[in-house]
Amino acid sequence: MSDLLSLVRGCTFDDFLFTPQHSVIERRDPATIDLTSRFSQRLTLKRPIVSANMDTVTRSEMAIAVAEEGGIGVIDRGFRSGDIDPQVREVHIVKRKQHGVIGDPYMIAPAASLADAAERMRRTGIGTLVVVDEQRRVQGLLTTRDLRFADEGGTVSSRMTPRERLVVHTGTPDPTIAEEVMRAHKIKKLPLVGTDGTLRGLITAKDLIMQRQLPFATRDSQGRLRVAAAIGAKGDYLERASELLRAEADVIVIDIAHGHSVVMARAIEAFRKRFGDVELVAGNVATAEGVRFLLERGVNGIKVGIGPGGGCTTRLNTNFGVPQVQALVECRDAAVGHVPLIADGGVRRHGALVQALVFGGETVMLGSMLAGTAETPGDTVQKPVVVPDSNKTVRVPFKVFRGMASLQAIVDRLDVEDLDAADVEALGAEGMEISVPARGSVRPLLRDMLKHLCSAVSYGGARSLSELQELFRKDPTRYVIRLTASSRRESFDR
Ligand code: XMP
Repeated sequence: MSDLLSLVRGCTFDDFLFTPQHSVIERRDPATIDLTSRFSQRLTLKRPIVSANMDTVTRSEMAIAVAEEGGIGVIDRGFRSGDIDPQVREVHIVKRKQHGVIGDPYMIAPAASLADAAERMRRTGIGTLVVVDEQRRVQGLLTTRDLRFADEGGTVSSRMTPRERLVVHTGTPDPTIAEEVMRAHKIKKLPLVGTDGTLRGLITAKDLIMQRQLPFATRDSQGRLRVAAAIGAKGDYLERASELLRAEADVIVIDIAHGHSVVMARAIEAFRKRFGDVELVAGNVATAEGVRFLLERGVNGIKVGIGPGGGCTTRLNTNFGVPQVQALVECRDAAVGHVPLIADGGVRRHGALVQALVFGGETVMLGSMLAGTAETPGDTVQKPVVVPDSNKTVRVPFKVFRGMASLQAIVDRLDVEDLDAADVEALGAEGMEISVPARGSVRPLLRDMLKHLCSAVSYGGARSLSELQELFRKDPTRYVIRLTASSRRESFDR
């Protein structure tokens, strides 16, 4: 591997092409090519895509889209210090979006009024309530249809489908059996009960259909989408982690600009002391020393990248950083056999994705590449743009994309009313804010990216992403072509 390091020192994505190899697959079909990879030690994704924890990239809408497409989103911590609820709410929305088995269905007592039931349905947006007695034993099922034309003064028990007419499943939940039972009885909801008749969960036909339509989705053991959430290393970070874990975030990411630091060491130690063996990713680092430092502190995944990000000015303003390909190769040398790396930042064209994945990343974190899509947070604003040919002005929709260390993002996170001009001036910004054209959904973009990644696997002479990584690492010189200025122009200037 050290040969590779000397080959890539000082280099980044646009410095290389890869030599095409003898292709061994008939079709470059993303449905059949295995792109499985690890996000962290105990979390495997079917697609190696991670959406960045930036406040103009990942909140619940993006996290849902990315998880449904097989990757994972990291909800940013760009909320004001101490204001933890908004981030927790985003996690809740993702975890409630899809289910295999709903472990905690909404319940109501048989003696409750129909007005109460209607109110609960309206508040939760859920159209089915399981009717249970005080011991949580199933008494019936009440749906929106049962409320139609009903006297709201009546009781739940007067309109529910009672237990004796209800089909239920007793024993361990199994989606295949559930589907058969639902088909045989032409029902859309199947309550799960224990042998003592108490409610254990609910399976719905809608969720089963959804599971089949999204075969690559990243799900937890209960069939819910997975989501990660970012915290800092100071201030409210432990409290924030505690609330995020209570909302069942699957992974916590301690994300600070310089992860190889005393601040990070203190934060990991305090985190482990309080939360034990929770899946923890930390970053960012860009050197072998930085990786070893985090490994020694027992993290489960490491985010690599100092300064390659699209919204980032760290290298301009401080002159510190490591070209991303060098960082990935160096960090992988130190991390191999321990924890997976997330290649974070600098991927600005689809072809760079495969580079990030063979040079060292097991997954790739994307920020600017996803900017402006419908699932990113923030308003769309119309801006006048002059069309060069006709000199006419047209109005074009834009969205904001900004570095998390940009002045605007920092000021938004702080309580501005408590901040005077001198405080604002004292903030050392290492990011910038830009307007990007608003575009459609992120889903076709992700699918295109994955198609191109599958084509890259084929060009690389492999059958799967992991095989390509193996072949590449066995003999990188078979692949790596260092570009000159003119071959770079020939390759990428369009
Ligand atoms: P891309 O290139 O995909 O990179 O936009 C996303 C990553 O950029 C990092 N990031 C920043 N880095 N100052 C920085 O030095 C910033 O203000 C900033 N905001 C984001 C971050 O690692 C993200 O995942």
